[in-house]
Order: sequence, then structure tokens, then C-alpha cells
Amino acid sequence: MLATDPLIGELRDLITQEIGLHGPLIPQMLFAEKMRALIPKGHPVLGLTSLDEIGDYVARTQLVPIDADRQNPVPGDGDPQTRIVVIGEAPGAREDQMGRPFVGRAGQLLNKMLAAIDLDRQNVFVTNILKTRPPGNRDPSPEEIAAHIPILYQQLALIRPLLILCLGRHAGRGLLQSDLPLKGMRGSAHDFYGVPLFVTYHPAALLRNTRWKRPAWEDLQMFQRCYQALNRAT
Ligand code: URA
Repeated sequence: MLATDPLIGELRDLITQEIGLHGPLIPQMLFAEKMRALIPKGHPVLGLTSLDEIGDYVARTQLVPIDADRQNPVPGDGDPQTRIVVIGEAPGAREDQMGRPFVGRAGQLLNKMLAAIDLDRQNVFVTNILKTRPPGNRDPSPEEIAAHIPILYQQLALIRPLLILCLGRHAGRGLLQSDLPLKGMRGSAHDFYGVPLFVTYHPAALLRNTRWKRPAWEDLQMFQRCYQALNRAT
């Protein structure tokens, strides 16, 4: 029996009750297949079988011009066995120096946000849509997102998370293939190929504008209710 079989029974009912998500939750193996189907045929990431192999691939590969200028690639880090993946936009200056995601001021706030809902950063996997810092922290271009997102799909195929949290508009838009503003994506769960996906404010935005802390806290509490339901069901 798949460890995630309850997803097609009790857990779906619980999640529907808790957060009003009516999507067709699916077993994890099927989710992995769906992630791989999003990757162009013949893409080298399809042959990678671990997160470490993905890290090595990212380090040795230039997919777009910014990859040639980075100090370090930032593939992501955390628990490869986790049920929860947290996805940001792109590394900043500090992340580029360290080769790790969310290690600057926004990262410190992210750690506090996770701790506020009883999650330890060590127990989730944290990554970004882009694995390379765009110069001057500009927004990622559509070409850069298209070139890097297959790496994220393969990471998701290998981790097979049960919940996804996107930080900020770019992460939400990248995964949901949408051009909605953040307001249109936050506040409810999305059905991401059978996995509940939440979008909330990016911690860097919360550092700039404290008025967004309350709605961000509401999003995080909803996310917490969802994973508590998950823990009860599995
Ligand atoms: N902002 C992001 O979106 N990702 C990081 O890793 C750091 C800052």
C-alpha cells in the first residue's frame, strides 16, 4: 500500500473540511509522473535520481546567461524526506555568496514564520523557482523561469511533497502558470496536480510593509491547519 493512500480517502475529506479544497488529491507516485510530464522530453534532469544529483547538475550547467555570472548556484536545501516544500522566487546576494536559499534577512524572517506554525526549517525543503541570482535582484525573466523550472519540477517529482507553500507572486505564478496578482492567489488552497498549494507574501515584502503581516499570518494559519489535518490522517 502506498504511504499516501489516505490521500484518496480520509485526508481528502479532512482537507476539504479544514480548508475548503475540493481538488482531486492523488497518490504521490502519480504526482511524480505529473511533474515529469511537465518537463520537456529528453531534458537531462529527467535522468537525475536524487536531490544531490540535481545539485551537481545545477552547478555544472549554464541554462541562461545569468548562470555564467553567479558566484554560486542555489539548488535548495532541507530534508529530502519531507512532506512540505517551500518555494521562493530566486536567490539574493547573500544566497549567491553562500549557495543556500533564504539565508539573508528574508531567510531569517522565513525561519520565524515557519517556527510560528511549529515547523522547523530543517524539516522542510526550501528552494526557489530560479536557482541563480538575477543581477541587482531584478525580477526573473520569463526565459529564465522557463529554463530553470524543469529543475524544480524534477525536485518535486523526487520529493513528492504532500503540501507546498509558495512565497510571493513570482513563485505562485510560476507554479500555477497564472498571471494573477498575489491577492488573487493567496487566502485559499490551490490544487497543484493533486497537492494542496498555498501562496502567501514573500518575507522580503513583509520586511518592507508590515501591514501585510496580518494577512500573511492568516495564510500561515490555514497552511498549519492543513498540515495538522495531514498529520492526523497519516
Ligand atoms: N528571496 C527568495 O525568493 N529566495 C531566496 O532564496 C532568498 C530571498
